[in-house]
Amino acid sequence: MAEAPVTAPGPGQLLLKTLYLEFSPAQKSWMENVAPYRAPVSIGDVMPGNAAAVVVESGDSGFAPGDLVTGPFGWQEFPTVPASEAVGVPDGVPAASALSVLGVSGKTAYGGLINVGKPRAGDTVLVSGAAGAVGAIVGQIAKIAGCRVIGIAGGPDKCLWLTETVGYDEAIDYRADDFKARLKALCPNGVDIFFDNVGGEILNLALARLARGARVVICGGVARLNMDARDPSKMIEGPRNYFNVVFTGATIQGFLVYDFQDQFPDIVRQLTAWLRTGQLVSHEDIRTGFENAPATLRGIFEGANQGKQMLKVAEAN
Ligand SMILES: NC(=O)c1ccc[n+]([C@@H]2O[C@H](COP(=O)([O-])OP(=O)(O)OC[C@H]3O[C@@H](n4cnc5c(N)ncnc54)[C@H](OP(=O)(O)O)[C@@H]3O)[C@@H](O)[C@H]2O)c1
Repeated sequence: MAEAPVTAPGPGQLLLKTLYLEFSPAQKSWMENVAPYRAPVSIGDVMPGNAAAVVVESGDSGFAPGDLVTGPFGWQEFPTVPASEAVGVPDGVPAASALSVLGVSGKTAYGGLINVGKPRAGDTVLVSGAAGAVGAIVGQIAKIAGCRVIGIAGGPDKCLWLTETVGYDEAIDYRADDFKARLKALCPNGVDIFFDNVGGEILNLALARLARGARVVICGGVARLNMDARDPSKMIEGPRNYFNVVFTGATIQGFLVYDFQDQFPDIVRQLTAWLRTGQLVSHEDIRTGFENAPATLRGIFEGANQGKQMLKVAEAN
């Protein structure tokens, strides 16, 4: 933790007060320099991450003090940023929901499920990491699309939360002894879409349950991220059940949310509309205290979060 003077905004810049930080497993890979889509974090750099903030002082005609914005402002309490990085929070949407549902998690859930998974009414959709940020949104969008939705999460409390609060039809605890049997019992006709946030053994078992023509959407591999990426000998091996893709004519496709950049305005419009009608609910797990940012990031690798992990840094006023 370092202190530095607050910088007044120059032309085209904004001085912000950070309200919330958001956390994603990908932040670990940014520090390990294994994410090819962005420059590595160096020792001494501000830790990268998305935030919601309020404009304190504006050097840009598009923003005024008091405006709520989101963007990649990093772990800073009073960042001075280019106005081009800031996106206004739509009226009537809380800043935290904008950071989650209208941010990377929501765009990932929508783009991955709709563009790659291509859901049809009546499909059985299986989601791993279902009680996390992306998973809780994928489940709701799949329900809107008319699918039967089954979530996989760690522990009975998260599973109950998925069915009672988030709207999943069924939930399976992958830590329970009967995980494999429940997966088989709940998918008697197979899985049409497997939206995978986890990888490893969960991906392997899901591949054994594919329906004809299934779509396997590789969004994340948090089980892999728990490994030490600097030691390839400790990395998770590929799935043993991969050949079922041949028997079922299934496709396995990975994606990065940035693949859908051209569609972001339309995706955000749709997600905002669902938030406003209440068809989509933002589920946030909010801790407090700027000094708790490193521990909060570590927590998501231990399954500490239910919904989108965030940290409240300050009040808007
Ligand atoms: N492709 C893209 O463009 C893109 C964009 C954003 C995110 N992602 C990826 O999507 C995934 C989900 O991200 P998120 O932000 O929604 O995270 P998240 O699900 O909110 O948090 C991680 C969750 O993963 C589970 N987990 C942790 N270690 C695990 C392990 N060893 N095995 C099984 N589950 C484990 C934990 O839930 P349990 O208690 O249920 O285990 C934890 O709560 C991540 O892999 C992330 O990198 C991809």
